[in-house]
Amino acid sequence: MTAQIIDGKAIAQSVRNRVKDEVKKLQAAGHRVPGLAVVLVGSDPASQVYVGSKRKACEEVGFSSVAYDLPAHTKQDELNALIDRLNNDDTIDGILVQFPLPEQLNEDEVLERIRPDKDVDGFHAFNLGKLAQRQPVLAPCTPKGVMTMLKESGIDAKGKEAVVIGASNHVGRPMGLELLLAGATVTITHKFTKDLQAHVERADIVVAAAGIAGLVKGEWIKPGAVVIDVGIHRMADGKLCGDVEFDVAKERASAISPVPGGVGPMTVATLIENTLQACRELHLKLETK
Ligand code: GUN
Repeated sequence: MTAQIIDGKAIAQSVRNRVKDEVKKLQAAGHRVPGLAVVLVGSDPASQVYVGSKRKACEEVGFSSVAYDLPAHTKQDELNALIDRLNNDDTIDGILVQFPLPEQLNEDEVLERIRPDKDVDGFHAFNLGKLAQRQPVLAPCTPKGVMTMLKESGIDAKGKEAVVIGASNHVGRPMGLELLLAGATVTITHKFTKDLQAHVERADIVVAAAGIAGLVKGEWIKPGAVVIDVGIHRMADGKLCGDVEFDVAKERASAISPVPGGVGPMTVATLIENTLQACRELHLKLETK
């Protein structure tokens, strides 16, 4: 069997197209356009690339995007003051502070300071708690983006054995909650898991988010399983690869997401989707879509 390739780039484009149409409708009805503040502290090269793609996506869909590039030596008080200002700005629907932050800054403090209704990353304890209670409001972008990829590929998680590899606050744990909400039986593995291979071998859906290049061997994949690879790693030859041994896995899986062009573009598109949602439903108080 050769797997269907789940084209995250194309699905992300269709998500952005939908958002673009909605923005036009908002404008036609006399509303303001959604506003996203994107905050970058310091000059980490990977973060600059990510922030650049988020700002570009805002432009494409017609959002107003406000860029804050702060120096690496920014103090916690200064960052807090900016967040407070954006929290109180009625033209701003979403606040994104790109991580990682320089070491003098406390990421947890930043996450909790952003108003939950402007937390378009979905990282605030309120938003994670609402997802855990099966009432998602603004859900974390990468797991929500993975669920969109499954849906757009005609894959229903209900009743399936889903194995999430990696238990991070921002991906693994909320990914488990999303799959649970969709009716899957969920296992989340982590660095203390004794026999990762045995878990992967019985999975109908594998979501790899360990952050370890090639951790998941292609031979472990159950024939016909669905494989979503959240990992992204630059190899010595400059090429990008994921957490899954793609070439072998694609011969066993029924569907698989590639790296690059899989989950990465979906995270950005879902951020855009969340910002529209914050604007329409939480700030303009229009009906739920
Ligand atoms: N750094 C890497 N991924 C992300 C993300 O999705 N959101 C934020 N804020 N920072 C990140």
